[in-house]
Amino acid sequence: MFTRELTSPPLEACAVARANIALAKYWGKVDLERNLPAVPSLSITLDALTTKTSVRFDRSLDSDVFVLDDAAQTGRPLLRVQTMLDQVRQLSGIDLYAEVRSANAFPTAAGLASSASAFAALAAASVHAAGLGWNLPALSDLARRASASAARSVYGGFAKLPAGLPGQEVLSAQPIAGKEHWDLRVVIALTAKGPKGIGSTAGMEVTKATSPFYDAWVRWCPQAAERLEQAVLERDFEGLAHVAQQSALAMHACAMASSPSLLYFQPPTIRALQAVQHMQSEGLPVFATIDAGPHIKAVTLPAYADVIAERLRSVEGVHEVMQSALGSGVELCEAIG
Ligand code: DP6
Repeated sequence: MFTRELTSPPLEACAVARANIALAKYWGKVDLERNLPAVPSLSITLDALTTKTSVRFDRSLDSDVFVLDDAAQTGRPLLRVQTMLDQVRQLSGIDLYAEVRSANAFPTAAGLASSASAFAALAAASVHAAGLGWNLPALSDLARRASASAARSVYGGFAKLPAGLPGQEVLSAQPIAGKEHWDLRVVIALTAKGPKGIGSTAGMEVTKATSPFYDAWVRWCPQAAERLEQAVLERDFEGLAHVAQQSALAMHACAMASSPSLLYFQPPTIRALQAVQHMQSEGLPVFATIDAGPHIKAVTLPAYADVIAERLRSVEGVHEVMQSALGSGVELCEAIG
């Protein structure tokens, strides 16, 4: 899907991408080796959570180097970067090692570090540095191979990633609507410090292998994704709130019932969720979603964001509250200074 440019490749490039949060959750793979999701997902891309990544292919290097927020990386993080670089080297014919520098514009220790923004930015920067043509579906497919949620961060606003089929070679996210379609706000309540427990990839495999609810989850997801897409297109907040909150809670219920149990919630997670439910009972337009971690993301309309942030700030155990509007898809940018 990528085309090789005829002119000599620039060998270096920088890209910025933003994290997304799924309203219809992806949880479970149909093909682990190819990293294909078992369920369709739908997400919003967030303006406030950005990752900037520069890639420089360099003749003088004798191995790939990956520096994240000024710290040289080894082990699995380096391996995941190298796996993507290998694919770009193969597609472009460039036979050079690369230095990758990446910076998150949000506190990494907060546990918000996102593989979605990271791999969307890395895909765009490495593909451009290698002189391959700019092609969003191909970029999304490349990002998806590293982390399926990253496929969606290639697009801004509202995006969806269909479920895959076993053995499928190519699977890209698709844009649903740009950020200007519907001005939603996300209020993020941080409920714990430090990195999360079990990662998404391992958590999904445990769930698939042991949760008695996994098959029901996989069967339910397509209709949820469809209803959410409809709600987005119609700007139907109530419809969006109802299905998105149910998707998050169904994902967690399914994961919780695994053996060993995957319990991502902390006591403040429950308190913040109850605070959101209380606000709903008062008629405020808000709903909660929770990823594979303890933080609550409350989605609302702009006029209510400050009130909701204030209410979540007063929940015991919530130590920081951030707000974000919807953001753009991946873009090339100036090199990291
Ligand atoms: C709960 O995309 O991180 O955030 O494909 O194994 O890298 P891998 O998983 P990842 O999983 C995201 C899980 C989620 C829901 C979602 O973003 O859809």
